[in-house]
Amino acid sequence: MKFIKVKTYEELSKIAADIIADQIKEKPDCILGLATGSTPIGTYKELIKKNKNGELDFSHVTSFNLDEYIGLDGEHDQSYRYFMNNQLFNHVNIDKSKTSVPSGCTDDPEKEGAEYDKRIAEAGGIDLQLLGIGNNGHIGFNEPDSYFTGPTHLVKLEPSTIEANARFFETIDDVPKQAITMGMASIMQAKKILLVASGKGKKEITEKAVYGNIDPKVPASILQVHHDVTVIYSEE
Ligand code: PGA
Repeated sequence: MKFIKVKTYEELSKIAADIIADQIKEKPDCILGLATGSTPIGTYKELIKKNKNGELDFSHVTSFNLDEYIGLDGEHDQSYRYFMNNQLFNHVNIDKSKTSVPSGCTDDPEKEGAEYDKRIAEAGGIDLQLLGIGNNGHIGFNEPDSYFTGPTHLVKLEPSTIEANARFFETIDDVPKQAITMGMASIMQAKKILLVASGKGKKEITEKAVYGNIDPKVPASILQVHHDVTVIYSEE
């Protein structure tokens, strides 16, 4: 595992965008695993700059996002589909029909999860998976648990996650209580993984994930056994 510590959020965003850009240049029709949350926003901004200045072509890229809230359709301004359209897809030359976010409006999450994993496998598997990390160590919406989860599945969000995400909703009661998320097996099958974490509040949990015991109570700690992981942490 490569652990890069930088001072500023801008440095983090630039390094992360360079890693993603290298992946796209090396394999223009690569499969990217993408993440939502505040941390990757700067990375997406840098990728948009590279696309606008002609350095980076997204036209052959396929993407699969990590997760979605249950009950929110893609038009809802707090859905992760809406986030991805606004933060990245609407500003680069990606073919939107090649972008996927799990459906939060399914009445059969198990079937939706199995189909999502099947589509990832049929596309050839994820070449590079971008991840954030939750205050509680979650990746995707895989919350601390007594075991590591497998495929894409339905999860009940932890009170701490609901609290952390309440800043995006009018009231805490508006935050969905469930989500559909890629599981650990889906994430660990990615050929390369890039985790971004920023701010003092993420320092301890990021170090625990990188240096601590591999423990499902710190879901990101499983990344220690993956063969190609880069973690970038910025103090700012
Ligand atoms: P954040 O979220 O980037 O908004 O801190 C990360 C996460 O919960 O995975």
